[in-house]
Amino acid sequence: MNILVTGGLGYIGSHLVSKLIDKKFSIFIIDNLNNSKRSTYKILKKINPNIKGFKKIDLKNKKKLLNYFKKKKIDIVIHMAGLKSVSESYSNVKKYYNNNILGFVNLIETMQKSKIQKLIFSSSASVYAPKISSAIKEDDQLQINSIYGFTKKTIEDIIFLKSKSLRLNYIILRYFNPAGCHQNGLLGENPKGTPNNLYPYIGDIIKKRRKYLKVYGNDYKTKDGTGARDYIHIDDLVDTHLKSLQRLFKYKNIQEVFNVGCGKSITVKAVINSFKKFCNFKIKFKYYPRRYGDLDKIYTNNNKAKKILQWRPEKNLKDIALSTFKYYNK
Ligand code: WQD
Repeated sequence: MNILVTGGLGYIGSHLVSKLIDKKFSIFIIDNLNNSKRSTYKILKKINPNIKGFKKIDLKNKKKLLNYFKKKKIDIVIHMAGLKSVSESYSNVKKYYNNNILGFVNLIETMQKSKIQKLIFSSSASVYAPKISSAIKEDDQLQINSIYGFTKKTIEDIIFLKSKSLRLNYIILRYFNPAGCHQNGLLGENPKGTPNNLYPYIGDIIKKRRKYLKVYGNDYKTKDGTGARDYIHIDDLVDTHLKSLQRLFKYKNIQEVFNVGCGKSITVKAVINSFKKFCNFKIKFKYYPRRYGDLDKIYTNNNKAKKILQWRPEKNLKDIALSTFKYYNK
């Protein structure tokens, strides 16, 4: 079974590729190296003998994409390539539009030409309308809250609208907040420039690149006033892809959407405390004003994924803190 992972050298892609170890799989990776490194490929090749190749391809380059697909016989595409900074999506709308939306349009048209009818898409919790009082379910109201969220929702809409004519079997996974690193200490999240997200920023503090964490807001409607998110360990997140692959190969007419989160709301303060408790590492912090567009609290009801994918998150905040500390402290 030939699996193409777009964005396969990125944070989530590399962790997924490292775990696609079933002997039935042959793994092909494309990535534009925009937010990832070629050296990650070397690490992955050592971990997983199923990896058959990497090619630097930008999805915006349709000609190159078409040529690549002509040479390979791909059975399923796992589409993870994409830009993911909410703040950058506001300052550079065109970049997000071109990269995420047009990139996907090129991909789906190429898949159509190559008669590939199976797709797993990395979507995001950012497609939902904010909801403070209870956990978000898949059929809750959708609402665009950022340019980034707009790109994810638009890709979902294209999948929904084109799936009939393409006879597409797809699983859309709406990620909440992936966190943590590989147990080998070699794979983790390494964004270029100043990290936007909480855990990579803490990584910079562990690496002694930055002195303190800027905690954005202390007057949110949460138990300690800091923003709350549903942090899910990268291994548990990867597991939903393995289950999705099984499902797409076992059954016909699969067109499904799942939320992927641990189902708990965890504040920034709780994350800070977890490093003290489990790693004996004190994170210095200062309160700053809220970040534009940030929500008080967002977490999922993960019953649908549990029931249909037969999946269960196995890891917790302790595993996230320990693996993060191991990766950045080396
Ligand atoms: C988490 C909490 C911040 C940094 C991200 C992605 C987005 C989407 C969902 C997948 C918030 C606070 C953060 C810092 C802080 N992922 N924070 N200091 O905002 O939920 O969005 O996850 O699609 O792509 O951007 O995650 O990690 O940026 O923030 O206090 O230096 O940490 O205010 O409460 P967010 P995040």
